Amino acid sequence: MSSPSKVTIALAPGDGIGPEIMDACLRIFDAAGVNEHVDFTTVEMGQSVFATGESRGMTDEAVETIESCGILYKGPMGTPIGGGGKSINVTLRKTFGAFANLRHFISLPGVDTVFSRAGVPVDMYIVRENVEDTYGGVEHRVTNDVVECKRLISAPGCDQVCQFAFQTAKQLGIEQVHCGHKANIMKMTDGLFLSRFRTLGEDYPDIEKADVIIDALCMNLVLKPQVYKMIVLPNLQGDIVSDLAAGLVGGLGFAPSANIGDQISIFEAVHGTAPDIAGKGLANPTSLLLSGIMMLRHVGLTRCAAVIENALLATLESGVHTGDFGDPDVPAVGTSDFADAVIAHLGKHPSGQEARPVPESQAVSFTPPTRPSVNEMMQTFTQVNANIVGCDITVETTLTPLDLAQRLERVAMGTPYKLTMISNRGTQVWPSGSPYTELVDAQRVRFEIEDKHLIGRIGQGPTVHLLSRIAEKFAIVGFVPLREYDGERGFSLAQGQ
Ligand code: NAI
Repeated sequence: MSSPSKVTIALAPGDGIGPEIMDACLRIFDAAGVNEHVDFTTVEMGQSVFATGESRGMTDEAVETIESCGILYKGPMGTPIGGGGKSINVTLRKTFGAFANLRHFISLPGVDTVFSRAGVPVDMYIVRENVEDTYGGVEHRVTNDVVECKRLISAPGCDQVCQFAFQTAKQLGIEQVHCGHKANIMKMTDGLFLSRFRTLGEDYPDIEKADVIIDALCMNLVLKPQVYKMIVLPNLQGDIVSDLAAGLVGGLGFAPSANIGDQISIFEAVHGTAPDIAGKGLANPTSLLLSGIMMLRHVGLTRCAAVIENALLATLESGVHTGDFGDPDVPAVGTSDFADAVIAHLGKHPSGQEARPVPESQAVSFTPPTRPSVNEMMQTFTQVNANIVGCDITVETTLTPLDLAQRLERVAMGTPYKLTMISNRGTQVWPSGSPYTELVDAQRVRFEIEDKHLIGRIGQGPTVHLLSRIAEKFAIVGFVPLREYDGERGFSLAQGQ
């Protein structure tokens, strides 16, 4: 067991180049005195565990160790292609509630990019929501021709990540935070994310808040990346924009990544296992080292972090490089020699750019998690009056919208519901529509309560009854009750409705 002044960190070297780059990082840590404050304990994860048939890619002991440590430092791990095995990286973030992915993108000396050549410094953070969105992976083949993916965004989920972004910005002295979104199209999901960003932002009057539509953001990042200091985004958009940002500073090999949760956090390299160079001693350990530096700061080891970061910057500045970057006229070194070069630069500072300030002292500030007894997210503080006003039913059919409407109107006779709309791939095709709208075999039909006085008086029973009547004639492939919340519509309109 660690003494209280030490922290225990679960360590998973990973697959492919993972063990090589992890070894390099651990040697640098050791030389910088990290081991006086940290005990590393290795856990079994990755391809060797998948090969035993364990579809999570980690053993029960690994899960227990990570839960008791609260910190995992991991190398890249391969995802089995095909079969049921899901990405271990996504599983880890979701299982342990690591809801925010924090990445720092900064121009590094010796790393040649379009922007470094133009003298435009890049220094920005991206905070990506890590658990929700389409990453729920809730997908179905609903008909012969149609598959769907459910995009789940929750108010508490948005709050966690936006709060984390503002708190981190405050700690780092960042004056402006942007929210990237597509709320002009996905008014409910992205709309919720943006609205929670704005609401939580009110608690941070010193931070300037701005929002930007994701497509414009991508263009701006390529044209003028220096404008952005911190961007917070939903999961999928954040994933894509993070890699775009990595490209601005030289690629995934230079982009550290921290997955932060209330209790458990994961620090990892964002690149993959690089099977093409695995075992050859050629891999660049910079990304894993930068993630390790974030981890050291996370546990309070600010002095070690600054000393190692300055040594890395000085090494890069000296022109030492692995084969994936750097001056082609300077021979590349291998992973181990690169680590030796960083070790030789410990205590030195970069001269061409500002060195990271090295604090006089440091102390472990991280406390391992306590097993949660209640789920704090599972509560809502807003009391709203929710009433059923209808339902959307998706049926598998190749009937024309007019034929379908006539049949469904007959089925709905004698119920409180009126057929109000049919849409196909989200575009209204009945009662009005265009013959040029192309159709697929999943039609969404919308029924709404005809007599508005009944709203609030009838529950979901009649809706389910209507569903079962339709099910006698059609294959049902989707059913969603339509609700109003305090009189406000809780569903979107179809395109053209
Ligand atoms: P990759 O990142 O492994 O490789 C892409 C290219 O970048 C290759 O040419 C590789 O040699 C190079 N590269 C990557 N890291 C490097 C480093 N540190 N130093 C020098 N060159 C480096 O991506 P790929 O090939 O798509 O994926 C390979 C495997 O990695 C897959 O099984 C994938 O599922 C997994 N993967 C794991 C990740 C993680 O654990 N966080 C992230 C991405 C992929």
